[in-house]
Amino acid sequence: MNTPKTIRWGIIGLGKIANKFAKDIQTIDHCELYAVASRHQEKANSFAKQYNATKAYANYESLAADPHVDAVYIATPHSFHKANAIMCLNHKKAVLCEKPFAMNLQEVEAMIAVAKANNVLLMEALWTYFLPHYQFVLKELKSGKYGAITKLEADFGFKPKIDMESRVFKKSLGGGSLLDIGIYPIFTALSTLGKPVDLEAKATFFDNGVDATCDMIFNYNNGVKAFLKSTFLEETSSEAVFHCERGRIKINSGFHRPSTVTITNDGKQSTHDFEVKTIGYSYETAHFNALLRSHKTESPIMNHKFSRDLMFILDDVRHLINLKY
Ligand SMILES: NC(=O)c1ccc[n+]([C@@H]2O[C@H](COP(=O)([O-])OP(=O)(O)OC[C@H]3O[C@@H](n4cnc5c(N)ncnc54)[C@H](OP(=O)(O)O)[C@@H]3O)[C@@H](O)[C@H]2O)c1
Repeated sequence: MNTPKTIRWGIIGLGKIANKFAKDIQTIDHCELYAVASRHQEKANSFAKQYNATKAYANYESLAADPHVDAVYIATPHSFHKANAIMCLNHKKAVLCEKPFAMNLQEVEAMIAVAKANNVLLMEALWTYFLPHYQFVLKELKSGKYGAITKLEADFGFKPKIDMESRVFKKSLGGGSLLDIGIYPIFTALSTLGKPVDLEAKATFFDNGVDATCDMIFNYNNGVKAFLKSTFLEETSSEAVFHCERGRIKINSGFHRPSTVTITNDGKQSTHDFEVKTIGYSYETAHFNALLRSHKTESPIMNHKFSRDLMFILDDVRHLINLKY
């Protein structure tokens, strides 16, 4: 059998998530961190040294133009995703772009159009979709064993250090709980129940206008509802609970990251553990590598339609809570 082609990665924006991604990449076969790009040369140099990257660039475009880079991971704040992704796509680089894919649907459409025009792979880095426990839950829900979902409850809440200059709080960078963490409960509803027929949403805000909390109810046919929540004001259980006609599937605390799953069915309860040897970003990356090797331009899992639908819902919620960027 032929040895798979080594995928040479570049990372743009060397913040918190870039470090986690760089750690996980080291665990994947036939894949290397080749280049990193920061707005500051010293930062790029020290990141490259820490993770054994060959090249350290002091601007993003130089990385995008490097002919040895196969794929770029975009790890900048949300408000730069569109521009950074389009720049890389126009250099014919495959792009894995952090969530949320962009700031609104118009931006997402622009990114997809450029990917299509250049015939290059573009995928939103919604890592949860690729995690073993989440794939297990999707399979269980599809199996028919538990009947249809009658209600979904999913929340994500934590108390970040208040720093109005950080991207989490800064309005110009797309700050606020909805786009940062509310996207995960919404992703859970979309990936299991689909797009809602209609939705309700209420939010509270910090003084600078970014949302501190967002409570949502998604309405589906036959009275099925999803109760979803994001908050920066309290540590919540951060679970996803699927109430089904014949049982209940609960993704335990930290449902968006590697977690355990408890199933209650026929009066019996079982908890399922999943062996995950990495932080969890390796799963989406290995999937992306395989797509790239087989010259695909879209993921069959995290496809463009899914990213569009996800952003359509986020836009809808923002409209209801009157959150404008
Ligand atoms: N999938 C996940 O689990 C996960 C987790 C956390 C975050 N994220 C997503 O990843 C993205 C980055 O999040 P993060 O927590 O890593 O953010 P972060 O720590 O603030 O890092 C973002 C990086 O973007 C670059 N950047 C470019 N222009 C900037 C500007 N004007 N202000 C601030 N930074 C700027 C900086 O890198 P240089 O200085 O090197 O240029 C900065 O270090 C966000 O879209 C977020 O939603 C995903």
